[in-house]
Amino acid sequence: MNVPQLLGMMMLGLLIGVAPACSQSDAPQPGAAGAAPAEYRDGEQKFTANCSRCHGPGAVGTSQGPPLVHKIYEPNHHGDAAFQNAAANGVRSHHWQFGNMPKIEGVTPDDVDQIVKYVRWLQKQAGIF
Ligand code: HEC
Repeated sequence: MNVPQLLGMMMLGLLIGVAPACSQSDAPQPGAAGAAPAEYRDGEQKFTANCSRCHGPGAVGTSQGPPLVHKIYEPNHHGDAAFQNAAANGVRSHHWQFGNMPKIEGVTPDDVDQIVKYVRWLQKQAGIF
């Protein structure tokens, strides 16, 4: 075996040896979101103040509104613009039987941006995307 081949074998050995070390441990676990990391706390606070009375703490839903931690609200189906639109204009009931969502007074587009980041984080923790 010449030198480049030998090196190649060694690299392969390294790759195979290292791979298992970074599997599993970071796998998302449904419902295991826990406390939000610092970068999402502003969004969490704004969500709690403006949205959670219907969408529930941690966006798991209540009797007044649907969970946002749900497959139908993943980024490809309800992009960030859908959140801006919901807060600014309200939502006519179409997916659920909770009735319409009113427009939310007193939240700015910046607030909603932060709320969306927090909700995306929750969705990711739940393994939705
Ligand atoms: C008074 C209750 C209530 C509050 C407060 C509320 N929502 Fe909603 N929201 C609803 C209901 C009910 C629906 C479901 C409508 C339907 O049937 O599709 C909904 C749907 C949504 C949707 C899906 C929109 C779509 O295009 O289908 C988004 C996004 C959303 N809400 C975000 C928010 C955010 C962000 C806040 C806080 C700024 C918020 N909601 C506050 C009741 C509420």
